Amino acid sequence: MLPGVLCVSNLIIAGGSRLSGIIEVPGAKNAVLPVLAATLLNNGTSILENCPELDDVHTMLEILSALGCKTNKNGSRIEIDASNLTSSSIPEVLAKRMRSSIIILGAVLARCGEVIVSYPGGCEIGMRPIDMHLRALEQMGAEIDGVSQGMLKVKASKLQGCEILLDYPSVGATENIMLAACCAEGETVIRNAAKEPEIEDLQEYLKKTGVDVSGAGSGVIRIQGVGSRKIKAEPVHRIIPDRIAAGTYLAAVAATGGSLVLTGAIYDHIGSILYCLRRVGCRIKSYPGGVVTLESDGHLKALDLVRTSPYPGFPTDMQPQIVALLSKCSGTSVVVETVFENRFRYTEQLQKMGADINVQGRTAIIRGVEKLKGASVEARDLRGGAALIIAGLAAEGETRISGVGYIDRGYEKVERVLSRIGANIKRVEE
Ligand code: UD1
Repeated sequence: MLPGVLCVSNLIIAGGSRLSGIIEVPGAKNAVLPVLAATLLNNGTSILENCPELDDVHTMLEILSALGCKTNKNGSRIEIDASNLTSSSIPEVLAKRMRSSIIILGAVLARCGEVIVSYPGGCEIGMRPIDMHLRALEQMGAEIDGVSQGMLKVKASKLQGCEILLDYPSVGATENIMLAACCAEGETVIRNAAKEPEIEDLQEYLKKTGVDVSGAGSGVIRIQGVGSRKIKAEPVHRIIPDRIAAGTYLAAVAATGGSLVLTGAIYDHIGSILYCLRRVGCRIKSYPGGVVTLESDGHLKALDLVRTSPYPGFPTDMQPQIVALLSKCSGTSVVVETVFENRFRYTEQLQKMGADINVQGRTAIIRGVEKLKGASVEARDLRGGAALIIAGLAAEGETRISGVGYIDRGYEKVERVLSRIGANIKRVEE
């Protein structure tokens, strides 16, 4: 390629192959990002294993470097030395690249006493406000210095532990409060905390740095802040497997009428996804040591109702993928999105492929069609992009997916993983 020429990737899928093979579940994107943020609290070197190779992980490492951390990445192993921080300002260009950069707010505030970050706007799946994050930090003594020119400045000479009741079990707010609370004076109790497995993973990492934190997964989390004492440890932590990547590959194989062996999975984390896959007609078994198998004969039936909800309910991050699968299941399915207000936009792209989906507000009514057909479609968000891949694999003919940058934010080398199990998929650069 000529220097200076912008290169855009497309995925080209020749649909119709039955997928069959083994996939090892990679480390979880939504676990590694908050744990990377948490390494900022440690005045020592943290080692993280099983980190996925994703654009968002690279962006987070760039943010950590900009704050003064020394980072060293060797495959899936990342070393972060945060003993000397030199800045509390998160470069705007990096924060804008990754909306979830807001999860760094609590950690930088706790460690540096102030943080400057660009105010996150809405995105394709909804407004995504951060009012709960900010209210909780204010309760702990932080001052919101206001938003000017899109930048948010938060200060706290001292954070004070307190009782916090979340209006909704927000994943990001729970993580931010946990991290800020680590350096506060006294105990912080978070009630109605998010129960996602990624929260438990964050707790496990924090415990390895010597912080007394308990209750993750139960809805009530208690953190004993270290106050003016320093957190200094040499933790080695292995990131949990990605339940959404696991669910996506299972749905893809189910849609093509194939068979899959997943290794390195945690059965309980994907319980609600497996429940739906069983109900559409897939045969699923689990074996000790993290092995889950799926067999599908391709003759699948509709689901009367799937409602997304916080863990352990059906994950919103699997909603587009299950809709793609249901678009080929016989009968009428109903899917209700309760977490994000605007998460059905990708269905327009599925309709181009022949899917019969009628969206009314937060409800999608899907009438299964016998065949989907290949088309040129555009990914506009990460999981919507995953849904287009699933539809493309199950469709007749060729599907060309643009907007692959979104997909790369959450799936490591997706075309290689799927090719190895028999998909006819390639990446072309234009
Ligand atoms: C995280 C995940 C994302 C997942 C989501 C829900 C990461 C990096 N991202 O996002 O993949 O889809 O959880 O499982 O882990 N809300 C407010 N005010 C707030 C915070 C949230 O109104 O201050 C609302 C949001 O707009 C949304 C709902 O609460 O409607 C859930 O959001 P939240 O759990 O915070 O999601 P994220 O942490 O952004």
